[in-house]
Amino acid sequence: MTKIAIIGAGPCGLSMLRSFEQAEKKGEKIPEIVCFEKQNDWGGLWNYSWRTGSDQYGDPVPNSMYRYLWSNGPKECLEFADYSFEEHFGKPIPSFPPREVLYDYILGRVKKGNLKDKVKFNNSVTNVAYNGSNFEITSLDKKNDKFSKDVFDYVVVSSGHFSVPFIPEYPGMKFFPGRILHSHDFRDAEEFRGKNVIVLGSSYSAEDVALQCHKYGAKSVTIGYRNNPMGFKWPNGVKEVHYLDRLEGNKAIFKDGHKQEADAIILCSGYLHHFPFLSEDLKLKTRNRLYPPKLYKGVVWQDNHKLIYLGMQDQFHTFNMFDCQAWYARDIIMGKIKLPNSSEIEKDINKWVAIEEKLENPDQMIDFQTEYTKELHGLSDYPKIDFELIRKNFKEWEHHKVEDIMTYRNKSFSSPVTGSVAPIHHTSWATAMDDSLKTFLDQSKK
Ligand SMILES: Cc1cc2nc3c(=O)[nH]c(=O)nc-3n(C[C@H](O)[C@H](O)[C@H](O)COP(=O)(O)OP(=O)(O)OC[C@H]3O[C@@H](n4cnc5c(N)ncnc54)[C@H](O)[C@@H]3O)c2cc1C
Ligand SMILES: NC(=O)c1ccc[n+]([C@@H]2O[C@H](COP(=O)([O-])OP(=O)(O)OC[C@H]3O[C@@H](n4cnc5c(N)ncnc54)[C@H](OP(=O)(O)O)[C@@H]3O)[C@@H](O)[C@H]2O)c1
Repeated sequence: MTKIAIIGAGPCGLSMLRSFEQAEKKGEKIPEIVCFEKQNDWGGLWNYSWRTGSDQYGDPVPNSMYRYLWSNGPKECLEFADYSFEEHFGKPIPSFPPREVLYDYILGRVKKGNLKDKVKFNNSVTNVAYNGSNFEITSLDKKNDKFSKDVFDYVVVSSGHFSVPFIPEYPGMKFFPGRILHSHDFRDAEEFRGKNVIVLGSSYSAEDVALQCHKYGAKSVTIGYRNNPMGFKWPNGVKEVHYLDRLEGNKAIFKDGHKQEADAIILCSGYLHHFPFLSEDLKLKTRNRLYPPKLYKGVVWQDNHKLIYLGMQDQFHTFNMFDCQAWYARDIIMGKIKLPNSSEIEKDINKWVAIEEKLENPDQMIDFQTEYTKELHGLSDYPKIDFELIRKNFKEWEHHKVEDIMTYRNKSFSSPVTGSVAPIHHTSWATAMDDSLKTFLDQSKK
């Protein structure tokens, strides 16, 4: 029997497990599956942890999410085709849920069967090597401090790529009297109430961490961009200036001459694709981009077709794209999809990479990833979902952000699965301090 290893039980690993479960329900014989998860529960980044640094076993903490994190895109863009929000919550819910609500949804469809039995929790994969016919995996049972080895025909790498922070250094950091942290270690904006905060970066973390600090009472927030400013109409108390030049004591001095007293510096400088457990010949090396090279259809390792990577792209689309990738990978593993020869594979990868390199603005990037996901969708029996509506929702969302960065989360979108329109949330995001599932779902509060 074919034996497959899935590394990581975050949203991508769960998509993989779900895809096999659906095939089995249709009467197909599925491979033997072992999913290794180094944390004590599933859900990946969505499984919030108060911890930073190391866990109780000395392993680096992979979690990067924080308190009061709300979805930064409409839930109607990430909805599962085979499990709608309405099916899970029993009613339509607003478009921008907080983390706990999305976590509940992600787990909803996998909790129903016996998929948890396939996951080895607290088990960290420490080495993967290919011996010419199969993969030898070494894993560490963290609780019992015991290494094991096993052999697999296929390996699915779904270990995420937003867990290992990229941490640059700026002159003067060594002597800065305040706190310096990466967004990976940011947990609670309350910590910065009344403080002058510097946020470095110009992507989603910079945007959201800056707004969180502002929302929870920071005295001032100064965002330092490196290449291009985000350029939103920031609320009073938040400003965007050009790149940090140096720190002198507690003063931040920017390239454009701007000076700001600072209590804390938050580096929103992104993450590294980091696979210390993979041998060199199997290792994806890429920055965060929409089409990492060497991955056929964004998932199959060009040099070894028994190695699958899920979710390694920069992400507009998330959960339903992960599903399309997993359903496609499943059908390769089960022999239902035959891969073309190596020159066709090379040509296809180069085609996507060349288009990606010419993308200039968010609308084009949305189109690119929608086309990619649509193509994958057409290759498996992943249920019907309206990608044209998702494309439209994404573009509207982008434009709402440009109109007003403080109110875009108050808007409502329609579902690509059920067609129903989301209700407007009872409280605007800027004043909603309680992000609990109970309060979010309590529509009587209107
Ligand atoms: C701060 C932040 C906010 C985000 N907010 C949103 C949002 O609002 N909406 C959205 O759609 N997306 C959001 N994302 C994007 C996020 O990448 C995806 O939603 C999703 O979590 C990716 O799933 P994944 O399975 O690829 O990775 P992860 O969620 O990172 O899961 C990977 C899993 O692999 C495990 N693992 C790693 N290495 C090993 C190993 N060696 N052995 C065993 N297990 C291992 C980890 O413990 C983890 O459980 C956010 C990301 C970040 C960083
Ligand atoms: N739900 C939410 O609200 C939420 C919140 C936070 C994050 N997220 C998600 O988390 C994921 C990661 O986002 P991210 O913003 O952390 O990473 P990212 O999108 O990869 O962006 C990395 C940023 O770091 C900047 N950078 C790199 N090196 C730098 C340096 N030396 N100095 C200053 N800036 C530097 C880059 O600037 P250049 O552009 O100049 O290269 C870029 O702006 C995304 O999927 C996002 O959607 C979601």
